Amino acid sequence: MRLSRNELKTLMKNKMMAAGLKEEHAEVTAEILTWSHERGYASHGAVRVEYYSERIFKGGITTEPNFTWKETGPCSGILDGDNGIGYVVAQEGMKKAIEMAKKNGVAVVGMANMSHSGSIGYYSEMAAKEDLVAITFCQSDPMAVPYGGTEPYYGTNPISFAAPTADERTVVFDMATTVQAWGKILDKRSKGASIPADWAVDEKGAPVTDPHLVNALVPIAGAKGYGLMMMVDIFSGVLLGVPFGKHVSSMYHDLSQGRCLGQMHIVIDPERFVGLEKFKQSMSQVCDELGEMPAAEGYGKVYYPGERAVMRRDKAYAEGGIEVVDELVEYLRSDAIHFDRYDHKNRFAD
Ligand code: NAI
Repeated sequence: MRLSRNELKTLMKNKMMAAGLKEEHAEVTAEILTWSHERGYASHGAVRVEYYSERIFKGGITTEPNFTWKETGPCSGILDGDNGIGYVVAQEGMKKAIEMAKKNGVAVVGMANMSHSGSIGYYSEMAAKEDLVAITFCQSDPMAVPYGGTEPYYGTNPISFAAPTADERTVVFDMATTVQAWGKILDKRSKGASIPADWAVDEKGAPVTDPHLVNALVPIAGAKGYGLMMMVDIFSGVLLGVPFGKHVSSMYHDLSQGRCLGQMHIVIDPERFVGLEKFKQSMSQVCDELGEMPAAEGYGKVYYPGERAVMRRDKAYAEGGIEVVDELVEYLRSDAIHFDRYDHKNRFAD
């Protein structure tokens, strides 16, 4: 069914507050989940609320975190999130990075000891809206084989970058470094369908088309994507002193414990390079030139990254609201906090 922005956001916020999150943290988390859901990233929208509520309720997210900010140089710092809700930690880290980049030209800000922070494009877009260029990376739980390997070692380790233009457009690139999300495998299982051979591997590291035989996801573009997911883990894990690689905590292993994840924001002021106005004009030119290029058959148009997400959002509101599956709305409107479905869940089981 379709919900207004306000209703969806309020329902999510109230549910997480009922689980124990304080209002200002529930407000930020619900806002970012709505940002994601309205852009068509339903995998990072309302569907996550029950899992977060269970983790909050069971103590695996600190509800009164003591954030500690340590400036380690004129352009660097680490925010320790005390395993508070990841959305707030990542947003606070980006606020620090924006302030630092505006003052000193560049900011490299790490966030250590946080929980899942959702669609990371939100944080890079924050910087672009302040006329800065940004890139952000974060860890996620191990479920992808390294190129040629047999066991999950890295997560879906996403990368996002964003840049402003001279007009209302913002370039926001935001992707996982695996070919497909785990949710897409589950979707195929539930439909009794097969999966393309380049999505996942079995216990021997061999490609599989039967979704029930999946033991791990695979990196995008073979060895190149493997290098990218390693880079993400170096920047957002090894460099920050939090668990890395296969030692990164599982999303479902124990919902009473903090996840100790890491994220890294790198923010640059274009004024220190080509100059802000020239940069923004050039970015508008890039978007214009890409959009004017004749599209290949079947593609319709060449889009800049993030363009289709904004189109999906605008279309949803033009059609009467954000589409949310009925069972999810029922849960959000109910008095239930969670159904005890996620703790110790085996991701690879049916
Ligand atoms: P996706 O495959 O839907 O999109 C990836 C990128 O490609 C986007 O920037 C999109 O704008 C661009 N794109 C897609 N089609 C395009 C087209 N036709 N023309 C131009 N650009 C196009 O994204 P993916 O990999 O499924 O990730 C979904 C979300 O999941 C992201 O928001 C990501 O941050 C989030 N995520 C979060 C994780 C976490 O642990 N916090 C882990 C993994 C993903």
